[in-house]
Amino acid sequence: MAGFLEGKVVAVTGGGGGIGRAVALAAAAEGAKVLVADYGVGMAGEDPSSEVADAVVAEITKAGGEAIAVADDISRMESGERLVSTAVETWGRIDGVVAVAGILRERMLFNMSEDEWDAVIATHLKGHFTVFRAAAAVMRKQEGGGSLIGFTSGAFAGSVAQANYSAAKGGIVSLVRSTAAGIFKYDVTANCIAPIAKTRMAANVPMALNEIGEAEDVAPLVVYLLSDRARHITGQVYTAVGGKIAVWSIPTELRAMYTTGRWTPEAIAEHIDRGVGQEKMPILEFLAKMREAAAAGAKPNA
Ligand SMILES: NC(=O)c1ccc[n+]([C@@H]2O[C@H](COP(=O)([O-])OP(=O)(O)OC[C@H]3O[C@@H](n4cnc5c(N)ncnc54)[C@H](O)[C@@H]3O)[C@@H](O)[C@H]2O)c1
Repeated sequence: MAGFLEGKVVAVTGGGGGIGRAVALAAAAEGAKVLVADYGVGMAGEDPSSEVADAVVAEITKAGGEAIAVADDISRMESGERLVSTAVETWGRIDGVVAVAGILRERMLFNMSEDEWDAVIATHLKGHFTVFRAAAAVMRKQEGGGSLIGFTSGAFAGSVAQANYSAAKGGIVSLVRSTAAGIFKYDVTANCIAPIAKTRMAANVPMALNEIGEAEDVAPLVVYLLSDRARHITGQVYTAVGGKIAVWSIPTELRAMYTTGRWTPEAIAEHIDRGVGQEKMPILEFLAKMREAAAAGAKPNA
């Protein structure tokens, strides 16, 4: 029986480790030719090496699949271009790009250095732009279009000591939705996954996670979104954790209040609580629970 991705060419950034590796192996098992793009760095982006990308290519080849490795820093424009041109020169086209590469540099906002901010935004947000931009330029002109898949996080809604990561992940959601809007007429789709999976990155979370799965649980949804069966799906964000898949809403206005003419600060102060109120901030409620649990000496659950 033909695989779900038979004949497709797929590039996976961060394909050498964690969720990216699971995606690269699953795509290859479903018949895709896979470009494994990974800079082989530590959690904070340090000590690059080509070993992890080469190791995944070796795994795929040993299982009878076709793969090549590119060990570039995906935050650079020329890396995105090289990734796409390598796939096109080797296999003649590029059908899918999955942007999984990521790092963490956690610090409270008031202590965060410019470098900690820049490195995280560059790897995650710009690391999506570099490959999406280069791939979209090819996909829009080829028969059958293509699929772009980003990786965001629940941290998008706010996260302590991760202002850089959270801002990058929010930016990725907006980038994916804008990409979907801009290129749907060229038969190119753009979607986004928010995973929770046991990887070295998740091991860093300072609390017990109620919802957690394996990296291999995330891969089937990515394979599906890369396939011809998902050509009607674009602009979406899906949570993938264990056996759960959920779709996210798009932020929109909840309530409004009006005045004739222009509001004054005084009138706003008088009306805002009853007029529009505030939207719930689950992270603040969670932090209050965490403080209570810590006071009682327990490890809090998320
Ligand atoms: N694991 C989770 O529970 C979780 C939760 C939310 C979001 N995510 C997101 O999922 C994605 C994958 O996370 P993971 O847990 O598999 O992480 P991981 O640390 O296991 O793997 C990340 C991979 O990206 C590579 N990489 C880092 N910087 C790179 C660069 N500049 N260029 C190319 N490659 C680079 C690393 O070498 C590594 O192999 C990330 O975007 C992460 O933010 C993960």
